[in-house]
Amino acid sequence: MPKRTPFVGGNWKMNLDGARSRALAEATAAHAAAHRGAEVCVFPPFVYIPGVAAARGASLVGGQDCSAEKEGAFTGQVSAAMLVDAGCSQVLIGHSERRHGLGETDAVLSKKLSRALEAGLCPVVCVGETLAEREAGRAHDVIRTQLRGTLGGHALDAARLVIAYEPVWAIGTGRTASADDAAEAHRTVRQTLADLYDVRFAESVRVIYGGSVNAKNAAELFAREEIDGGLVGGASLVAADFATIVAAAARRVQ
Ligand code: PGA
Repeated sequence: MPKRTPFVGGNWKMNLDGARSRALAEATAAHAAAHRGAEVCVFPPFVYIPGVAAARGASLVGGQDCSAEKEGAFTGQVSAAMLVDAGCSQVLIGHSERRHGLGETDAVLSKKLSRALEAGLCPVVCVGETLAEREAGRAHDVIRTQLRGTLGGHALDAARLVIAYEPVWAIGTGRTASADDAAEAHRTVRQTLADLYDVRFAESVRVIYGGSVNAKNAAELFAREEIDGGLVGGASLVAADFATIVAAAARRVQ
């Protein structure tokens, strides 16, 4: 089986300011340098990306979103090429706060993925069901549909792709999926990737979990063979907590 490098993303969402984002980037870079077995990436608000990129050290920097368009009259949007120009190597595609908060469909996200790939960014594609979908027994169907709708038809390099399974009901709620439920969802992600591409591709892609990951539960989640790291919101804003989470991910390779 291919060895997968753990990936930990810190999704800062719409938090911090210039000075605090640079300070957090420096602290996070130090933790990334101490745990080189894991890939660590921070996702700052757009306007702070250049400052964070200058302070990034051993960690990567990504955008929280990119436009589905290449350039032009799209007020307020940021293109994938601009993210690269500002120092990003990664981009989140389809975070639930965009799928559900802003109504972004799989068709729009597929276009965003095209723009990200053209620009040379590594996409972190997010999928996950709502509470109503889980309670209706549809969680795995939703994961499959979102993956097919967003990834289908794209030529992808498994080493440059991360899938984040983020059940919507676990994001920012303090309610984490159990390690068993997360592992089961990750198996569905890999099976869908195997159907879309092939087994080797599916086994090479990092599949990470997001949704109330914190310094206390990270080790249990990352101990599961299926879970290659995490996408962390709230706890990524606290340098010491994020350091513990990065260390837990790095232990997977020891
Ligand atoms: P959370 O956010 O860790 O605050 O739940 C995760 C995410 O939205 O990526």
